[in-house]
Parts: sequence; structure tokens; C-alpha cells
Amino acid sequence: MAQEEYFAEEEFDTEFNGKTVARILQQGLAHWPYFFGYLLSVLGTTLADGYLILLGKRLVDEGILAGDAERLTGLMVQFGLTALAISLGVMGFIFCASRLGERVQYDLRKAMFARLQALSLSYYDRTPVGWLMSRLTSDATRVGELVSWGLLDLVWGVIGIVVFLAYMATINVQMMVIVAAVAPVLVVVAIQFKKRILVEYREVRRTNSKITGAYNENITGVRVVKALRREEANLAEFRELTGTMYRAGYRAAMLSALFLPAVQLISAVGVSAIVMYGGWQFQLGAVTIGGLQAFIFYITFMLMPVQEMARVYAEMQQAIASGERIFSLIDAVPEIEDREGALAPESLRGDIVFEDVGFRYEEEKPVLERFDLRVKQGEKIALVGPTGAGKSTIVNLVCRFYEPTSGRILVNGRDYRDWTLHGIHSRVGVVLQTPHLFSGTIRENVRYGRLEASDEEVERAARMAGAHGFIEALEDGYESQVGEGGVLLSMGQTQLLSLARAILAEPDIFIMDEATSSVDTLTEALIQEAMDAVMAGRTSFIIAHRLSTIRKADRILVIEDGRIVEEGSHGALIGLRGRYFGLYTKQFRDEREGELQWGVAGG
Ligand SMILES: Nc1ncnc2c1ncn2[C@@H]1O[C@H](COP(=O)(O)OP(=O)(O)OP(=O)(O)O)[C@@H](O)[C@H]1O
Ligand SMILES: [Mg+2]
Repeated sequence: MAQEEYFAEEEFDTEFNGKTVARILQQGLAHWPYFFGYLLSVLGTTLADGYLILLGKRLVDEGILAGDAERLTGLMVQFGLTALAISLGVMGFIFCASRLGERVQYDLRKAMFARLQALSLSYYDRTPVGWLMSRLTSDATRVGELVSWGLLDLVWGVIGIVVFLAYMATINVQMMVIVAAVAPVLVVVAIQFKKRILVEYREVRRTNSKITGAYNENITGVRVVKALRREEANLAEFRELTGTMYRAGYRAAMLSALFLPAVQLISAVGVSAIVMYGGWQFQLGAVTIGGLQAFIFYITFMLMPVQEMARVYAEMQQAIASGERIFSLIDAVPEIEDREGALAPESLRGDIVFEDVGFRYEEEKPVLERFDLRVKQGEKIALVGPTGAGKSTIVNLVCRFYEPTSGRILVNGRDYRDWTLHGIHSRVGVVLQTPHLFSGTIRENVRYGRLEASDEEVERAARMAGAHGFIEALEDGYESQVGEGGVLLSMGQTQLLSLARAILAEPDIFIMDEATSSVDTLTEALIQEAMDAVMAGRTSFIIAHRLSTIRKADRILVIEDGRIVEEGSHGALIGLRGRYFGLYTKQFRDEREGELQWGVAGG
């Protein structure tokens, strides 16, 4: 959480970028009925506001002071109608602005989400999850608000000032000029205030997220903190942070408290100037009492749009920075895309060949170089080797989550980049080391393997995966909710569900990154059976940790430093007394002893 907020606040001070503003405006204009609905209702409301004040002037001058009762009644009726028009106008622009903001947020989120689905894994390698979350949440909100309340408030401010000055000019031009001279001072002062306040609040937020981070680290890592005797140092750091936050909070409160009085003081100066000058004009007969009163009203009415403009201006930079980050995500180009004219493969059955494949996640750090491998249709390959050797990388390439940086991968004699990504992904079944369940029911989770599968097919797959037993034992059976707020499944059960998903998908190529964590012997046996079921007749790549899997493989590849250092069957490799033998004796001895003890080992 702390991290998310932290990312939301970083890289904020970007230049005012006209292109981004134009794009944000474009987002708003896409919903032009609301956009123009807003403009029209604001214009209407402002005109009516000004007219109301003008009516007030006439009420005083022509009705009350002149003692004309009939005129008074007529003007009162007009007054009531204008007030009604104002209410309708206000309703109209609030409605249009909120709709507009929501639509823009929705559009941006939809565009970002669609882009996230299309982007390759390499983008996720480079981009922290927190950063993406902030784009989808706070940034989208901020841009939506800029379009609805922000830019449109700015328009309201400008329209308000222009319209009111025009009304004033109809009463007395010289007095209008005085107001026009004071108004910019007001605008500038208000903007400066709002900007300072915003800076301080940002400091408060930033420090706050650091403090949350510090809490988090100190609470979750309390043992280490104590063991390393970091209490004193951490306390000092913490005091420093809270001090910074306190001071920024204090300054923000001071500035906020000063803001309104300052604005009121300036307008009071403006009002007194008008009253003095107006009093003199009255003596000369250039303005009426009602006219003087109207001027004072106009000035007070102008205060609100001016304040709003200051707020918007101060917040605009932040929203533009948000917009820039959103557009950078929307504009990100997926590194892996379908080639022009790519075909959907009917099947991916056939030999898989790595031909002189080179691959790197980052420049200067090759993981695979001149890697060659031929896997026969239906062959079961086990990949073993030390951590960081490149096992997952090899399977990632088979899945086309990444593409070779040089060389190529052939399936059935054809470069797999001739196929569509969707085609490949739907023919490859993958069970990851840490299988993922989506929130939803067990049935839905299994059905993810093939969306059009019937209930019977889902259950058959679960049976084959050996998951049927534990599912039936759950209170709601297949309808049990999993994930947050649902039943908690063990690692082994989650794996069985993922296997059921893979069985249901009937892939041509099956890939599994076995979990290293041990499961109980019964589940272990179930998993093994399920794996046998899904591997039957299919080309399979298993990153194997279980001895049972390794034994069953047609070929074991020992990977080290991105190279195949040994390959062959279990028996042959043991006979070799090389790397595999070393790994085997070190890593699997305990497991083997366990098996012998339980009498499971075959021979
Ligand atoms: N997403 C990534 N971005 C950058 N480098 C990566 C990425 N994934 C892996 N690497 C690097 O590539 C090399 C091979 O990693 P890989 O994940 O293929 O190893 P592995 O054999 O699967 O290891 P393990 O047994 O720990 O899963 C390592 O040096 C690793 O640091
Ligand atoms: Mg791995």
C-alpha cells in the first residue's frame, strides 16, 4: 500500500506539456454532448446570475426607491423565473461534469487494461506492480477530475469574469475598469496560495507513505530488528520522518488558514475602492444606489470562480503528469506481437526445435547462447539444474512468453512466429511453480482451461486430476469460492486444480514448473497420476524437483549456465557419475530415503 502511494507521488514535476493537455481534452471531447452540455449550462447559469443581480438593481432603483408597486411585482416575477433558470443550469452542469469525468475515467481504465493484456512479459519485468496500480487508480481519477471539474471550472471562471465585467460595463464603465484592475491581483495571489498549499500537502503525503513503509518494515521484521539491535537507529529515523511530516502539515494548515482571509482582504479593498469611487459617481448622478449595490454583488460573485480557477491551476500540473503516465502506458508497444499474416495453428503437434537460440532479458546479460535442442513429438523432457541456470527461461521461450533474441524455434518444421500468439497460447498448457487461482468458484477456475467446456467435462477433468475427492468434501463442492474470502486451499490442492485446468484444455504441449515445497505423500501420488494423465501422448517439459517425475521422463536435461551439460535417461545419467549424479545424490537422497521408508520406490 505504502509503495503504491509512493509511486503515485513520484516523478511529478513535469513540464507543462501541451500535447498531453490536448490529448486529455480529446478524451473529454469524445463525449462532446456532455462537454457542450456543460459549457452551455455554465454560460446560461452565469448569464442568469448576472441578470439576477441586474434585476436586483432595478428592484431597488425602479421598484423600491421609485415606490412603484406594479413595477415591483413585475420584477419579482422575473426574479423568480431567473432564479429557477439558475437552479436548472446548476443542475445541468453538475450532471454533465460528473458524467464526463466518469466516462473519461472509464475510457482510460479500459484502454489501460486492454493494453496490459496485450503487453509482453518483458514489460512487466521492467515495471513494478505498484506503478501500474497507481496508473489504473489514482491517475485515472485525477485525469477524470481534471476534465470534469478542473478544465471546466477554468472555463467557468473565465466565462464568469468576462460575463460579470460585461454586465458591470452596462452600469458604469469606469467602475468596471477598477474591478478589472483588482481581479488579476486576486487571481495571482489565489494561485500562489493554492500552489504552496499543494506542495506542502504533497510533502505530507509523501512522508506519510514513507512512515507507513517504516511501520511495515519494523513490524514484519521485528525479529531481525531486535537481533541486529537496530531499535535505536530505527527510532531516530522514525522521529526524523514524523518531524518532517509534522512541519509540512503545520505549514499546510497555516497557509490554508491564511488563504480565505487573504482573498477576502483583497476583495474588500476592491469593494471599498468601488464604494468610494461609486459614492462620488452617485453624487454626479452617474450611478444609482441599486447600481452600486449590484457592483458589490458582482464582485462577491466573482470570488468563487476566481478561487476555483486558482485551485484548478494548482492541481492541473499534477493531473497533466498523471495523464502523461497514463498515456505512456497506453502507448507502450508490446514486444511480442503477431507477425503480419500470422496464422492460427490447427495444432502444435510435431517436433520442437531450438535452432541456435540466443536469449537475454537485459542487454549485456545473455542467458542462452547458441542453444540447440530437438524434442520429439510426445517426448517427456525433465529439466534439472541449479537455480538461475535457465530452466524457466527455456520453458518461457517454448510458451512464447518471450521470443528468442537470435536464432529461432521451430514447431513441426515451422518458425513458431508464423503462428498467432493466441493460437500458441491456447495449444500450450502451463502449470506454474506457484499456480494462480482467480477469485471465483472452483468450477470457474477449472473452466479457465477451456471456457466452452460443459460441467461434465469440468468434473471429468477434475476426476482425472485427482481433485474430485477433495472438491466433493468441501461444503459447496464445485461451487466453493476460492481466493480472498473463500476456502483456503493447500499448495497441493491448488496444483491439482491447475492440473485439472490443463487436462481440460487438452493442450498439444504441456509445461510444468514443479513446486519445490513438499506436499504430503498422498497428494504427491495424486499429482503424479494427474501429471501422467495430462502428459500422455503430449510433448512435455517439466522443470522437475520430484524424483518420481524425473524417473518417468524420456530424457533428462541437466542445465547449467544456459547450456545442456548432460542429457539422457535417469539410469544412463547415474551411470555417468557426472553432474546429474552429483545433484541426485545431494538433492534427492533425502527424498529417496523417504520413499524407501514408505515403500513407494519402484526399483
Ligand atoms: N524476468 C527476468 N528479468 C531479468 N532477468 C531474469 C528474469 N528471469 C530470469 N532472469 C535471469 O535469467 C537467468 C536464468 O533464470 P531462470 O529463471 O531461467 O533460472 P531457473 O533455472 O529457472 O532457476 P530456478 O531454479 O531458481 O527457477 C538468471 O540469471 C536470472 O537472474
Ligand atoms: Mg525457474
